[in-house]
Amino acid sequence: MIDSTIYNCNVLTLPKIHNRAGNITALNNSVDLPFDINRVYYIYDIPGGEMRGGHAHKELQQLIIAVSGSFDITLDDGHNRKTVSLNRSYYGLHIVSGIWRDLSNFSSGAICLVIASHRYDASDYIRDYQEFLKHKGR
Ligand code: TYD
Repeated sequence: MIDSTIYNCNVLTLPKIHNRAGNITALNNSVDLPFDINRVYYIYDIPGGEMRGGHAHKELQQLIIAVSGSFDITLDDGHNRKTVSLNRSYYGLHIVSGIWRDLSNFSSGAICLVIASHRYDASDYIRDYQEFLKHKGR
């Protein structure tokens, strides 16, 4: 089990197949990812100034990619915080379980691709920050 701190949330450089007609990034289970994929979703048409996230997950791990445009992700493990800016299609931020995240500063036309370790489960969310701190034993 991976430690549930912001120091275990790293930006991975994803494989890029380049030719003169452009780039392809392919993500294969067990090869390119720190967990197996069970769900993929993407967030788009984000109005200027809006924030997303504002929750933690008990079990879910995610890899977050700015496939277009840019945005910032602030990570919080109940003890430390850090902000990561994503602005390239070949970078992926791995967020381990038990991390509070806020997404902000979306550029116009940004698309946030999320690769997830589990299918959607509303009971995996912690949406109250005080409850999150309790969950972390703080
Ligand atoms: P939420 O995860 O809160 O969005 P964000 O973290 O981007 O702010 O999800 C927003 C809504 O969409 C919420 O009502 C749950 C629903 N939803 C699904 O039904 N399936 C999913 O896979 C996801 C990610 C969200």
